Amino acid sequence: MKYPLRNWIPMMILVLTFSTFATGGRMVQDPHSHARPDEAVVKHIDLDLTVDFDRHILKGWAKLTIDNKTGAHRLILDSRRLTIERVVLDDGKPTTFKLVPDTEFMGDALEIAIQPNTKTVTVYYQTAPDAPALQWLAPEQTADKKAPFLFTQSQPILARSWIPCQDSPGIRITYTATIRTRPDLLALMSATNSQQKSPDGVYHFTMPQPIPPYLFALAVGNLEFRPISNRSGVYAEPSVVDKAAWEFADTEKMIQAAENLYGPYRWERYDILVLPPSFPFGGMENPRLTFATPTVLAGDRSLTALVAHELAHSWSGNLVTNATWDDFWLNEGFTVYFERRIMEALYGKKYADMLAVLGYQDLLSTLEELGYDNSLTQLKTHLEGHDPDEGITDIPYEKGYFFLRMLEEAVGRPTWDAFLRKYFDTFAFQSMTTERFESYMTEHLLHHDAQKVKALKIKEWLYQPGLPDNCPKVHSTEFDRVEQQVQRFLNGTPPEQLDVSGWTTHHWLHFLRSLPETLTHDQLAALDNAFRFTQSGNSEILSTWLGIAIDHQYKAAYPQVKAFLTSQGRRKFLRPLYQKLAQTPEGKQFALEIYREARPMYHAISRNTIDAILGWKEKQ
Ligand code: BES
Ligand code: ZN
Repeated sequence: MKYPLRNWIPMMILVLTFSTFATGGRMVQDPHSHARPDEAVVKHIDLDLTVDFDRHILKGWAKLTIDNKTGAHRLILDSRRLTIERVVLDDGKPTTFKLVPDTEFMGDALEIAIQPNTKTVTVYYQTAPDAPALQWLAPEQTADKKAPFLFTQSQPILARSWIPCQDSPGIRITYTATIRTRPDLLALMSATNSQQKSPDGVYHFTMPQPIPPYLFALAVGNLEFRPISNRSGVYAEPSVVDKAAWEFADTEKMIQAAENLYGPYRWERYDILVLPPSFPFGGMENPRLTFATPTVLAGDRSLTALVAHELAHSWSGNLVTNATWDDFWLNEGFTVYFERRIMEALYGKKYADMLAVLGYQDLLSTLEELGYDNSLTQLKTHLEGHDPDEGITDIPYEKGYFFLRMLEEAVGRPTWDAFLRKYFDTFAFQSMTTERFESYMTEHLLHHDAQKVKALKIKEWLYQPGLPDNCPKVHSTEFDRVEQQVQRFLNGTPPEQLDVSGWTTHHWLHFLRSLPETLTHDQLAALDNAFRFTQSGNSEILSTWLGIAIDHQYKAAYPQVKAFLTSQGRRKFLRPLYQKLAQTPEGKQFALEIYREARPMYHAISRNTIDAILGWKEKQ
């Protein structure tokens, strides 16, 4: 016998500790949730929350409608730093509850006593001022510096710090919400939204499509709306909103391109909210309302692949959802693939090729950094006992992309597109594991052809670290032109005489990435003089250039390093720059000086990362 009897009991306990739910008839454990949806599952939530900008607290109640399918006597929810005032069942009968603490990132299990016939559970609660899903900004920290701002970030497991819920991506719930705030502010959610402020500061929302808790979102601020088409538009602070509407003018075309590829957009509206500069991510695919960093407002529409990406999540992620955070590549790899197909449809193959080559470079540098045998380089990860944040690297994005592209090249685009469309249709509003995708794909794409499965190295792609040797080769003819100019420069041609006509952001990124480590300060200064990199208003070009400047201790750019790091909080830009600075004692001093000033503006997600890089202790 493989497992002797004495091993069974601890094994059972282990399995029962984690959230379990059915996907396609099989039970799946989510190691990052305390919930037991196999006992009783939450189907719908009605929220009523008051936004307290003075105390940095959300206060009110969440009424959970449950399906007590096993007649359970308990309902276990996830919570983190919530203060629970009382819990009542159905028509107002108080019940008992207890909070069972776990690790910091897991939060507490909120165990509520229920009856076999309980239909609703109402939790009266308030959030902690340092709830990790919430960032409360003072007016000075916004673009317009006039009004305070609040926004949530629930992915991956932070929803539990503002809503008591079964915080697992395998759960799906509909919701309504009433949000009470100041009348000078507009409240928005991942739901039906209004386009102007309400005179009493009270807003009502409904989300009729069932979504996982990591897609619950709220933002409150001095916001205005501008339409893009009859089903899409942008929200932003007044000084930003027109620029944003211009930058994202192609959004409707993107929606149509996406629909032509993989089926109808199922969420009615698609709006974009541009957040204040501290937003820690590029974008977040909150249903009906993508959250986006202002750092993509380049003024030339060159960074709008981000919109294509978040829009693509309306299929990959929001319709067909990773069952656990160990299947995160199913969300992100599919979305990067889909994003590049949208960009190709709108702007052509040459454009999409540039994106793919830059992605391949990112993949290789992440593999180098993590090591080719690191389990974090597997598509399917095993993050039990770890914060799922550790799994957010370029691997799920770019290795995921190249796996899917490899499949596309193996079967041909028409077959592949038909398969993907059917996949999204078949599993719409359901969750998906890596194993389930593997078996669905083996059946419906490879038709159980064992030789093909083997030749394509499917198992190695999904379950092994590193990069299989059948990874597609990508090439960009545009970048050939760039490389020629790099060569000319290295052979002594002055920068002014290089042929950079018609270069876009992506050409420049490739140019900068292709420069050798051996550049002298004179060469850097010549490049900077000719092309004004240090003054670039393009966040991607600027951050790449500043990284090179730090690598070479090119001090002329250091004031701009400080200006950039204190003016925005996008983790993707902060991490490499602080990492590079921290490599020399002098650089580290400079980093600490910048960080002391910038840290209060950064989101907790970015702060945690930079704290670790600089060894920052709270009272420093
Ligand atoms: N859903 C992600 C952001 C995310 C992932 C937040 C995991 C929290 C946990 C979003 O769709 C994303 O991938 N954003 C990217 C931009 C994109 C263009 C690659 C980002 O923020 O950099
Ligand atoms: Zn994404």
